[in-house]
Amino acid sequence: MSKLIYILNGPNLNLLGQREPEIYGSATLADVETSCAALAGELGLRTRFLQSNAEHQIIDWVHEAREDGAGIIINPAAFSHTSIAVLDALKMYDGPVIEVHISNVHQRERFRHHSYVSYRSDGVIAGLGTHGYELALRHLARLLG
Ligand code: DQA
Repeated sequence: MSKLIYILNGPNLNLLGQREPEIYGSATLADVETSCAALAGELGLRTRFLQSNAEHQIIDWVHEAREDGAGIIINPAAFSHTSIAVLDALKMYDGPVIEVHISNVHQRERFRHHSYVSYRSDGVIAGLGTHGYELALRHLARLLG
């Protein structure tokens, strides 16, 4: 059975493609899900691709990943900058965690420069657009292979 990677997406990412396309690009979250699933297949991995606007739901999915997730890729979106609760959930997860931001958060407003989630993330990819998700998957495949 191939290893399962959770790909978790936080608030407002359901509107990717429509949302500030000059910052986040024109790909939709469904496009990202499709390309991640295809790449995961090539890499011998499986993905569980999820999005929620609710903090408790992201936390519950991190808890679920403790049971069957070999790794987590997370774009916590605005929860990166606010949520100690998401950080605490990730601290109870033993596998590798890669944090992805589509935009280069360090080039943007000051409040986006700090991420609570980064205290736990093994690596952070920012500013490479939605390609960041694929790079994160490739890294996990190498790590877990
Ligand atoms: C984001 C960056 C965050 O600052 C923002 O709140 C998001 C998306 C990104 O992918 O670039 O919602 O995580």
